[in-house]
Amino acid sequence: MKLIFLGPPGAGKGTQAAGVSAHLGVPHISTGDMFRSAISNQTPTGLEAKRYIDAGQLVPDSVTIAMVRERLAMDDCKAGYLLDGFPRTVEQAIALDEISAPDAVVDIDVPDERLLSRLTGRRICGKCHGTFHISKLADAHTCPVCGGEVYQRSDDMPETIATRLKAYHESTEPLIGYYTGLGKLRRVNGDNQLEEVFKAILASLE
Ligand code: AP5
Ligand code: MG
Repeated sequence: MKLIFLGPPGAGKGTQAAGVSAHLGVPHISTGDMFRSAISNQTPTGLEAKRYIDAGQLVPDSVTIAMVRERLAMDDCKAGYLLDGFPRTVEQAIALDEISAPDAVVDIDVPDERLLSRLTGRRICGKCHGTFHISKLADAHTCPVCGGEVYQRSDDMPETIATRLKAYHESTEPLIGYYTGLGKLRRVNGDNQLEEVFKAILASLE
């Protein structure tokens, strides 16, 4: 299956993609994770993307589309894919339709007022890459799964989050209309317990 997770920053795309990609047997492809890895490896793409990510702005379409085109050509995508954070503009969606059109698009819907505390409280494990909310950690520095040290993403600061939300509403929200027009959109309430959101996503795909 070829699946897209749409939704604002902090909607739970990454959190849910881990379980859903394992359930469907397709790779979880997060353009945000790919950019962060390119930044830490100091590749040309990483160096280009860094200034946009740090500012909370979208990386230019040409850079992002080229990166995804290369990734989707890899062998593991023959079974399908779960794209998290791509497409984010209508231009990216049109490009994806040409590269490998999705079967379904799940919009994880969470009201803006819930997102700020989710994002400022997010912690990621440097070892197993799990995502947690600080309110669920017994020890604010330690991963509850593997004991690794957790860190905060550099773009999870309140002023950068405001810019990311603006970019979402201006550039990404129009994709709801784009995929509704193609009959591919499924809407799921993301303002619910993790397990309930997971079940709702799978039910939307039946
Ligand atoms: P990216 O990494 O994709 O960030 P994002 O879209 O802003 O989304 P997030 O990863 O912040 O949120 P999420 O929905 O994955 O939430 P999560 O599961 O972590 O992109 C980063 C940057 O890269 C962009 O700003 C841009 O610059 C660039 N970029 C990436 N793709 C691009 C593209 N296609 N084009 C151009 N530029 C691009 O959960 C968040 C928190 O909420 C966690 O603490 C979690 O524990 C908690 N949580 C999750 N679910 C629940 C729940 N049900 N109830 C309570 N808490 C929950
Ligand atoms: Mg994410």
